[in-house]
Amino acid sequence: MELKNIAVLFGGCSTEYDVSLQSAASVIDHLDRSKYHFILLGITREGTWLRYNGSTADIRSDTWHTYDNCIPAFISPCKNARGIVELSGTEYRTTPVDVAFPVLHGKNGEDGTVQGLLELSGIPFVGCDTLSSAICMDKATAGQLVRAAGVETAASVTAFAGDDLDPAIREAEKLGFPLYVKPSRSGSSFGITKAYDKQALRNGIQAAFSHDRKVVIEQNVTGFEVGCAVLGYSEPVIAAIDEIELTGEFFDYEEKYSLRTSNIHLPARIEPGTADRIKAAARLIYKTLGCRGLARVDMFLTEEGRIVFNEVNTMPGFTAASRYPNMMRYSGISYPQLMDRLISLAAAKEEANHETRC
Ligand SMILES: Nc1ncnc2c1ncn2[C@@H]1O[C@H](COP(=O)(O)OP(=O)(O)O)[C@@H](O)[C@H]1O
Ligand SMILES: [Mg+2]
Repeated sequence: MELKNIAVLFGGCSTEYDVSLQSAASVIDHLDRSKYHFILLGITREGTWLRYNGSTADIRSDTWHTYDNCIPAFISPCKNARGIVELSGTEYRTTPVDVAFPVLHGKNGEDGTVQGLLELSGIPFVGCDTLSSAICMDKATAGQLVRAAGVETAASVTAFAGDDLDPAIREAEKLGFPLYVKPSRSGSSFGITKAYDKQALRNGIQAAFSHDRKVVIEQNVTGFEVGCAVLGYSEPVIAAIDEIELTGEFFDYEEKYSLRTSNIHLPARIEPGTADRIKAAARLIYKTLGCRGLARVDMFLTEEGRIVFNEVNTMPGFTAASRYPNMMRYSGISYPQLMDRLISLAAAKEEANHETRC
């Protein structure tokens, strides 16, 4: 059997660069070497693209880019190249790619930018397309669409950098403290403040503006957080639901990656009927936002049993301990099987695109 050339993209010009390194190293470790030939394409924090030939240990420790064997390389937008172009001596060499796996989180990777490049290139790729990735990255836009589809969202106000902030602050105060102040496009809880008073709200908005010119101020949802790992295309698989038990303020960066004071319960401690309602909401959200391939849909379950949308991660964390692969594993899909499914879904998506093209 001929090996498929899989290009794994990692790193990225994003605040979530470090998370991507950990996710990508796990993805690479779990890809079956008897089926796939890997082409590793690292993107530094500064946005330099390099072909890398070393170990996953050096990806994890962020030393991968220090080696001389890293070669400047990039994905060609040109459809007849359908691959990676790299500088070899004084010549450009093209390596064809069968499927690209952008294991990139946050800006410049999970937000439709890299997906746009991959769509131009004609290379099938794992995950959501340009539009869906861009929508899911933008909490304000995703929230509006999900609300229009009939799923409850937290009441919110949006503020834009450069505008007079006072009207937005007055509107937000009416929602009642505490308030969540979030960059509309960010991840891993970067730039998020839980504001208990007007001064903290104003400071929180300024802090969020360092990540995005659009900021969402949300009413606090009391309840617990539940996640749904969704895999597939028109009839997606929805894995067992997990639940985050928080004892601290909120699921911030430190907590997400240390789980020092929080606990993840898999499956969530909920009634089967509630689980069915959560899965139905996740499916509706996935479809509404045009997701394909995979996504983790995050929601809140309130004490009264209301389901409130939080956000969709189109490239959720992928370490061996991450929520998405854990939920899939619990539902009978092992990490290596998940890799195979994602890669074949990418190829199937490309076939479907061909049918609708021209
Ligand atoms: N409206 C809200 N009510 C209660 N908790 C919230 C709300 N918004 C965010 N949080 C808390 O903040 C965390 C991070 O917010 P989230 O919107 O998921 O951003 P990120 O994309 O950075 O993960 C959530 O996991 C949750 O703990
Ligand atoms: Mg989140």
